[in-house]
Amino acid sequence: MLNLAPGVRYKTRIDGSLLFFDTRSCRYVSVPSSVAGLLSQDGGGATSRRAVRSLAEALAGNGLLADPGQPGPVFSIPSPAPLEPPLDEAFLEVTRRCNLQCSHCYQQGNALPQQELGTQPLLELIDRLAESGILQLKLTGGEPLLRSDLPELISRARSHDIATRLYTNGLGVDPRKARCLAEAGLNEAQVSIDGLRDETYASIRRRGILAEATAGIAALREAGIAVILSFTVTEANVGDLPLLDDFVRTHRVQVCVSPYLDYRVLSCSRGPSRGEFPATDILTATLAAFTRLKPLWTRKTRLTQLLPPSWFSFCGAGVTSCYITCSGRVALCPLLQEGFEAGHIDDLKSAWERSPVFLRLRSTNVLDTPACGRCPHLVWCRGGCRARALIYGGDLLGPDPVCCWMHGRLTGAGEGRPQTWGVP
Ligand SMILES: C[S@@+](CC[C@H](N)C(=O)[O-])C[C@H]1O[C@@H](n2cnc3c(N)ncnc32)[C@H](O)[C@@H]1O
Ligand code: SF4
Ligand code: SF4
Repeated sequence: MLNLAPGVRYKTRIDGSLLFFDTRSCRYVSVPSSVAGLLSQDGGGATSRRAVRSLAEALAGNGLLADPGQPGPVFSIPSPAPLEPPLDEAFLEVTRRCNLQCSHCYQQGNALPQQELGTQPLLELIDRLAESGILQLKLTGGEPLLRSDLPELISRARSHDIATRLYTNGLGVDPRKARCLAEAGLNEAQVSIDGLRDETYASIRRRGILAEATAGIAALREAGIAVILSFTVTEANVGDLPLLDDFVRTHRVQVCVSPYLDYRVLSCSRGPSRGEFPATDILTATLAAFTRLKPLWTRKTRLTQLLPPSWFSFCGAGVTSCYITCSGRVALCPLLQEGFEAGHIDDLKSAWERSPVFLRLRSTNVLDTPACGRCPHLVWCRGGCRARALIYGGDLLGPDPVCCWMHGRLTGAGEGRPQTWGVP
């Protein structure tokens, strides 16, 4: 019998695999559907016993088994998922208010006046998300720290053994506030710092001081919260990227570097208009930073990346994850909100299961799409970001032109645009 460590949950995913997920450390073990079937054979034969033994080894190796003698929940095959397909993670936009006005922020494009959900409706929503089987809740904004009930929201999620990640600009996080977030059970904080010199930081974030954000990171780390530094590359800060290596090593953080997305086309006509593709120096520097800092890269997309080729589903938006706006609308992802809404959280099941846009994404196997399906980079790229595909390529189900460019460079094949890729 497998005695799981406290905080370890397991669920069946969209591809029929079984995922064991430690909601404290965010470590996991994934069991392919073919092997998961063997585990459920009661009494089982030798093959079945071997499968259980190797699962036990994998779980123990990742710290997912309780110490001998320590009680923990015992593993048994999960009942069918409450949502079809299973929802693994959700972004929860707790507010659109912000203490900054960053020059690159997509929320300016999406900031239609919205009624913000109060504490009680948000707590009930978290209960509902727990019932729906999510493993990870990503609290975002605006600036989530502007809500004084944030620790209460985190603590409710953690009481359901849901892992939590906070997206924040890190301003105003002193040791007391960091301890309060840690005591609520916050697992990870993704802190945006888009400039490593005072002038650059100020030119992008407009208000706020680099030293204050840096102190926020230190306080979060000191309180025992894992920190991911997020650096969005624009023309204004691309020159600071070489400073990033020292910064992330000094502060012992993971990192996520990505080029700015031209959100402006999303706020006007979506039609045939395209966003302005990032300049070559931005993409080149982003790729160089990615290559240098790969070992410190965030585990951000790993859950989606665990899916096998037959379930390649681009970034997972609408397939394994969704975005919930501050007024309770269910949408695709942070960038694809307006026009990509599936319904209201009062009927999460029908929003998730019957939204035409979600169904369209789910019924598209990336292996069958003309460009990605024949692309040699698919195994690493997985088809990329849906917002970038739409903004730069004009097609929600098309390739992500930024990924095409990056993979083209990595393999020395030139600065490929989508039409270059996928051609055998
Ligand atoms: C909207 S913010 C919300 C959380 C918090 N206020 C913060 O700044 O981290 C979430 C993340 O989106 C990034 N972001 C905003 N606009 C973007 C854009 N146009 N392209 C790429 N990333 C963007 C921010 O830099 C930040 O890392
Ligand atoms: S702090 Fe975050 S939400 Fe606020 S303007 Fe900047 S990127 Fe946008
Ligand atoms: S590199 Fe481009 S064509 Fe290839 S899988 Fe990625 S997005 Fe698709």
